[in-house]
Amino acid sequence: MQIETKIKDLIEKSGPISLSRYMEICLWDEENGYYNSKEVLGEKGDFITSPEISQTFGELVGLWALNFHQQFINKKRICITELGPGRGTLLNDATRAISKVINEQFDLDITVLEKSQTLINLQKENLNSINVRWISDIKKLSLEPQIIIANEFFDALPINQYVRGNEGWHEKKVTTKNGKLCFTLNNKIWVPSDSIFSNFKVGDTIEYSEQTIRIFSNICDHLIQYDGVLLVIDYGNVSGIGDTLQAVNNHDFKDILEKPGQSDLSSHVNFKLLKEIASKKNLYVSKVKEQQIFLLELGIMERLKSLTKNVSSAIAQKLASEIKRLIDPDKMGTLFKVIAVTKNDRHLEGLS
Ligand SMILES: C[S@@+](CC[C@H](N)C(=O)[O-])C[C@H]1O[C@@H](n2cnc3c(N)ncnc32)[C@H](O)[C@@H]1O
Repeated sequence: MQIETKIKDLIEKSGPISLSRYMEICLWDEENGYYNSKEVLGEKGDFITSPEISQTFGELVGLWALNFHQQFINKKRICITELGPGRGTLLNDATRAISKVINEQFDLDITVLEKSQTLINLQKENLNSINVRWISDIKKLSLEPQIIIANEFFDALPINQYVRGNEGWHEKKVTTKNGKLCFTLNNKIWVPSDSIFSNFKVGDTIEYSEQTIRIFSNICDHLIQYDGVLLVIDYGNVSGIGDTLQAVNNHDFKDILEKPGQSDLSSHVNFKLLKEIASKKNLYVSKVKEQQIFLLELGIMERLKSLTKNVSSAIAQKLASEIKRLIDPDKMGTLFKVIAVTKNDRHLEGLS
């Protein structure tokens, strides 16, 4: 059955549905869900991510992970976990870079958290030269220090939206009008349990992802018990205010309610909330840095220099323009933010 029909039937039976339910169906419906049914990533897909743009992204993240391990963990096994690795490109570039500089007394132990069977199959093909363990639940992480990488992962998790009215918060829901999907505000006042819902003015929208909170909190608990670090790189804001939900199809923005299941749905990560959760658990949270600063401090221009040493000027130009896309303030350089969470106040490369 078409996703749109399924959603309309559901609304007819039980009334307006929450945005997170709408997103869950659009993205994960077993039959026609976005992540289960088509090639989503890369030039041929709907959107392109940093590791798909330039190999230097994964290489630098890999070397960042190795540096963290050598400084703060320094065990024989380096455990790296990636959350939602898409086509597996970051892990390929990261492990290749690590293997080039590592001395052989280290073992690389790679774990992947992935929900899409279509992408798991692709990852198995693309990562066939690396030993990888796939998990479907963050609680299945092995019980040792993990370097956890989340690039454009949290932005893909379903959210709810709440709009501030005179009397309090109202949940934004999806309903139907004249046979068409549309948004509605629930009349009932919604009483938040979280302190992030204080100090807003009438008309403000706030987004809240229970899945993000659950996965992030589980990772924090793992860090408390076993040490390690979480590196989050994502579209995001630090104010925590605003409607940031977006639909992207074939590299173009679309209406969120148009052709459900055919577009990628994502929202900006609320870094303020992540910081608050980790700080309450007495973890150390780095400053929120722009991707541009992070990559420049990690040496992306030096890497470009070495990549372009013995290549034609056409290839050199192509490599330079890919890197420009990652660090340009008008492109991904400032829209994407980076934070790390770890046990103690540590000097973290690119984030201090
Ligand atoms: C936007 S893509 C990012 C891909 C990759 N990190 C990159 O930078 O190219 C989101 C990834 O997260 C995965 N994902 C989304 N929700 C998930 C969930 N709840 N559990 C596990 N993986 C999930 C998707 O299947 C996909 O691999």
